[in-house]
Amino acid sequence: MHIKANPLDFKEEQLLPAAAVLQNGGICAFPTETVYGLGANAWDAEAVAKIFRAKGRPQDNPLIVHVADPGQLSDICIVTPLAETLISRFWGGPLTLILPKTDKVPAAVTAGLDTVAVRMPSHPIANALLRLCGLPVAAPSANLSGKPSPTRAAHVLADMDGRADCIIDGGDCLWGVESTVLDLTVSPPAILRPGAVTKEEIYGEIGEVIYGTGVGAPKSPGMKYTHYAPDAPVFIAEGPDAAARIAEAAKAYTRPGVLYYDCNPPALPVAISAGNTAAEYAAQLFFALREFDRQGADVIFAIPPAAGGMGDAVRNRLFKSAGGKII
Ligand code: TXA
Ligand code: MG
Repeated sequence: MHIKANPLDFKEEQLLPAAAVLQNGGICAFPTETVYGLGANAWDAEAVAKIFRAKGRPQDNPLIVHVADPGQLSDICIVTPLAETLISRFWGGPLTLILPKTDKVPAAVTAGLDTVAVRMPSHPIANALLRLCGLPVAAPSANLSGKPSPTRAAHVLADMDGRADCIIDGGDCLWGVESTVLDLTVSPPAILRPGAVTKEEIYGEIGEVIYGTGVGAPKSPGMKYTHYAPDAPVFIAEGPDAAARIAEAAKAYTRPGVLYYDCNPPALPVAISAGNTAAEYAAQLFFALREFDRQGADVIFAIPPAAGGMGDAVRNRLFKSAGGKII
């Protein structure tokens, strides 16, 4: 089932079939302000298992539970005072909180962890769907496992047509990178995945906050898997002479591509602009990675934005997609 809905002008009736899919144990792709999600009733372990099958997702990578209202949380997790503060400042919006789970949340959702990730989106279609189905909805990004997260309906159709019971086309996602994941079960609170709610903003609200490091076992199981990988290999190039180094390295390829930022791009067969700000870069990034594949690039050279603010989220995804390859 396909539903097309304009986020600024839709009727709730349009979403009723999608809500019914969720209520009946099916899986439904829906837009959020970050990326598209692939949702199932979080109370229903069998419905949740369908998500893992549709994505080809490893069983040990837990899902985020989405709610329409913070009042739903008492069934799902223990809401600490710190969580209350962050919720009143940043929800609905791109901030996911890791909190101690209740017994009611199936192990399939949390991959057996005793913590659960929760988030309330700000996207009008996501929120209406969550309200209409009346359920907490477990949802990862709606891509095939390992691929860039979908930021446009066409990406969802490419990856999930025939796999999801319902796909809601709600246009392009605003932020373009997934939510910030903040672990509140450790002290100081640790950002496990940078996103549109920045470290600086969280610091402004609660004081101490750190980036979770890669030391020891990955704290967020999702961090250990290959991510955001287009078909072509990705190389990162930084520094004032990045464009010149890219031009040189590109000679070894037949159809090289460049994702350029803050420079005059080298003249390569496929050149995509990442915009002029870190936020524009974020909104372009996953689209661009898929676009290089579509245009048949055999290599992708990417110039990252500077660190800090939203630049951290973009750099995190870019370096993961490059898998450590730097020129
Ligand atoms: O913006 C988003 O967060 C999107 C939209 C659809 O809401 N969702 C999303 O979900 O990106 P997913 O599954 O692609 O990423 C969830 C991340 C993974 O890295 C996972 O390992 C981590 O959150 N995670 C989930 N539950 C966790 C937990 N209990 N402890 C630590 N990390 C957890
Ligand atoms: Mg994902």
